[in-house]
Amino acid sequence: MLLIKLLLGLFIFVSSVFSCDGERSFESCKLLPYYEETTYGNIKQGHVIYKKECRKCHGSSLEGAKMHTSHEWWLLFQDNAQNLVIKHHETSVEEYFKSEKFREHYRDLYEFLHEYCKDSPNLPPTTG
Ligand code: HEC
Repeated sequence: MLLIKLLLGLFIFVSSVFSCDGERSFESCKLLPYYEETTYGNIKQGHVIYKKECRKCHGSSLEGAKMHTSHEWWLLFQDNAQNLVIKHHETSVEEYFKSEKFREHYRDLYEFLHEYCKDSPNLPPTTG
């Protein structure tokens, strides 16, 4: 009986440490594998896209990711990243944000920006 209670306690502890959702707090969240596909997007691919599409205006990928907290990124990327699209209305990149290409990019971008956001201690392997 004691063993069952111990196992159950361990299970609850482990699942609380490893459960991560869009609003997760980083104290209780492990570093996601940079090279592996997550269920939503791919962090490494998001890094590549950031460097290609965002760096020229928002600085290095480290500066870019640290622009916002995990919750703020989550809000910006809700509903097909519509709030991020709105932020770029009447800028020279408005077309990109409304394109099919951006619709293919935004999940990977979210994974990258969210993983290395302001309230995360995580740093990308290269910060350029
Ligand atoms: C041509 C320049 C340009 C490019 C490229 C660009 N942005 Fe922006 N971005 C802006 C401007 C201008 C604003 C609105 C002013 C501001 O808030 O900085 C903005 C706003 C933002 C904001 C909101 C900032 C805030 O505090 O409200 C975020 C987040 C953002 N951009 C992320 C991105 C991401 C991610 C990419 C790449 C997919 C990107 N931007 C590409 C120019 C750019």
